[in-house]
Amino acid sequence: MTHVLILGATGNLGTATARALTDHFPDVRLRLASSRPAGVAKLQAAFPAAQAVQADWYDPASLLKAVEGTDKVFIVTPDFVTDELQVTPNIINAIKRAGGTSQVIRFTAIPPGLTAHDLAPEFLATRCGANLHTLAKPLLDASRLPVTYINAACWIMFNLPWFVANDVKTKRQFIMPSVSDAPRLHLSELDIAAVAARIIADPAAEHVGQDYLITGTERLDYRQISALLSEVIGETVTYVDSDSTLREILGDYFEPVMTYYRHEVEAYKDVPVTDTVQQLTGR
Ligand SMILES: NC(=O)c1ccc[n+]([C@@H]2O[C@H](COP(=O)([O-])OP(=O)(O)OC[C@H]3O[C@@H](n4cnc5c(N)ncnc54)[C@H](OP(=O)(O)O)[C@@H]3O)[C@@H](O)[C@H]2O)c1
Repeated sequence: MTHVLILGATGNLGTATARALTDHFPDVRLRLASSRPAGVAKLQAAFPAAQAVQADWYDPASLLKAVEGTDKVFIVTPDFVTDELQVTPNIINAIKRAGGTSQVIRFTAIPPGLTAHDLAPEFLATRCGANLHTLAKPLLDASRLPVTYINAACWIMFNLPWFVANDVKTKRQFIMPSVSDAPRLHLSELDIAAVAARIIADPAAEHVGQDYLITGTERLDYRQISALLSEVIGETVTYVDSDSTLREILGDYFEPVMTYYRHEVEAYKDVPVTDTVQQLTGR
């Protein structure tokens, strides 16, 4: 029976994956980690059949304890706050000290071929998205651990409720700065979770060594999303070019994110559409 440790289990993708495993693959045993006691309590309440544990990826001893006794590890690291040059070696060392693992599943968002060497220092310094992941991937590649990458080089749809839902609800406006606009591929966090759950539940040998590029199926810019929202709610949603809402929501992270967008709108424009989500989930 598979026993998986999810690092980042209180986050958007980690929680959605734990939910997908609970609902569709009840044979998989879950160990769900948070670095905070409140996070552990929240996980235990939400997933009573799972084992919730406290593990901080800056604390090697807690990581070792969390890894021991599991046979797969799924890793999702957040933007802004992660120092991948510490976190990834700590996780690799914990797995090795625990005697190895049948599979490490690592979430990334890297346009195919992009490496840390291609990124200007100002973009790397933002610690956003793929910037972090380009630092983690070479470390995992060199670790000789059995790794599977789930690479969603897309906008994850949770950005929309986060950034624009309130304005759509209250003003029927989609407010985002046009400098951040691009014809992006959008992918639902639930589809990412479905892919992760499938890979975790399958025998490791079916996926080890794979770097799965998963994407949405069509490119949409802000005006096209506004038109879709209008269609769905039956009222006109107007695109407004302003950074006011994003500035308020992101607070201190606004400037790094705007710097990141200068790189992101270019770097992701040639990401090809794949049918990997359909292939892996069968839907
Ligand atoms: N937004 C997008 O469109 C987009 C697109 C592509 C890729 N991405 C990527 O998607 C990922 C974000 O995933 P998400 O939204 O699921 O992240 P999230 O909700 O921010 O979750 C982050 C997780 O990291 C855990 N964590 C933080 N500090 C920790 C520590 N010191 N030790 C152990 N765990 C710690 C948190 O748990 P506790 O706080 O409970 O410890 C939490 O579970 C990022 O890698 C981002 O780059 C985003």
